[in-house]
Amino acid sequence: MIDLMTTEEIAAVRERPERSSWLPAQCYTDPAFYELEKERVFRRNWLSVGRVEQVAKPGDYFSIELFGEPLIIVRDKGGSIRALSNVCPHRWMLLVGHDTDSTFPFKTEPCGNRKSFQCPFHLWSFDLDGRMIGAPGMDQAEDFDKKDWGLPQFSVEIWNGFIFVNLDPNAEPLAPQLATLDPFVDAYELDKLRILETLDYECDWNWKLSVEAGSESYHHLGLHQNLLEDFLPAAMSEIEPSCGPYSLYRNPTADGSPVPTAFEPPAGLSDRQRSCLKLITIFPYTMIFMMPEYTGFLKLTPQSHDTHKLRYVLLVHPNIDQHPKPDEVAEILRLSFDAVHQQDMAGGKYCWAGAQSRLAKQGRRSHLETQLWQMHNWLLDQLEKS
Ligand code: FES
Ligand SMILES: [Fe+2]
Repeated sequence: MIDLMTTEEIAAVRERPERSSWLPAQCYTDPAFYELEKERVFRRNWLSVGRVEQVAKPGDYFSIELFGEPLIIVRDKGGSIRALSNVCPHRWMLLVGHDTDSTFPFKTEPCGNRKSFQCPFHLWSFDLDGRMIGAPGMDQAEDFDKKDWGLPQFSVEIWNGFIFVNLDPNAEPLAPQLATLDPFVDAYELDKLRILETLDYECDWNWKLSVEAGSESYHHLGLHQNLLEDFLPAAMSEIEPSCGPYSLYRNPTADGSPVPTAFEPPAGLSDRQRSCLKLITIFPYTMIFMMPEYTGFLKLTPQSHDTHKLRYVLLVHPNIDQHPKPDEVAEILRLSFDAVHQQDMAGGKYCWAGAQSRLAKQGRRSHLETQLWQMHNWLLDQLEKS
């Protein structure tokens, strides 16, 4: 039961797409709704945290905080990627990611390569797989067995080179839930893509506004009319039925011609795939835009009901090495993405301003927003689980 929405509001979202309404404004503006999302959505579902290449070698790690849980994503000596707790089990000091200044004797960058992790406070140490390997001064502690004091760890799955973490120990595996996506993505060789550029944005509005704008082409009509509508017309969106915790649509080019590319896309792409944008949103907030020669991975980090960080990771196929000037290609892709995204930032800012109005009611939904009907109903499903 969702106490923060009326029965009528829930029913209006639950209607079939042609009759359904948008989520009410308090789902965006009420801090209590965000707290419910933290408990029932973010702490129970699969969240993207990065790409495999960020931890390419044993010992490579980076630290993150996921809804109050400090984590170390690390590749262990056996090659497995793990999500270890970044909290020392002795007296809770963070193991890595401290600010380094002259008063602090340890150098613990938020990312890098380590042979093990050692707590700066009393030097308890842990192997890359989380096992405790040392605890000085604990030889007189009775019934203290090192094997009981390893770092807690969370579930990790790798899907096409993306690292997903789930904070729920009882979570269902991710791969079977995404199996129906495989035929749509296999030819793009997502697991082979490399990080070309990373762009960071601070967003002072609710996280769902960014996911919604990133999950449909309907707004090409207005917000992107000068940059995208002529090339990828909103009305041509083809939205797939959702068979799992995701939405998927393709947006063909206006005249069906291939998307111009600076280098050869993956060889297995069909003519149809070469002439469209394909966009997957893995709920709650992983967005993957696939164009023939590059893929955009939008990684959100919600921080409160009214702020989130948004990292755009531009991924390219290794075929870019055949281009004589890959840096120029990167710069063009970066500038073109940023130009589009600045329009989306304005969209987020002004929708957020309007959402504060007492007159902000549940809007109706276009058939070109059916992906968001899928997302909103999935969200309600999660929130209704106690
Ligand atoms: S807090 Fe980590 S060793 Fe004491
Ligand atoms: Fe957009």
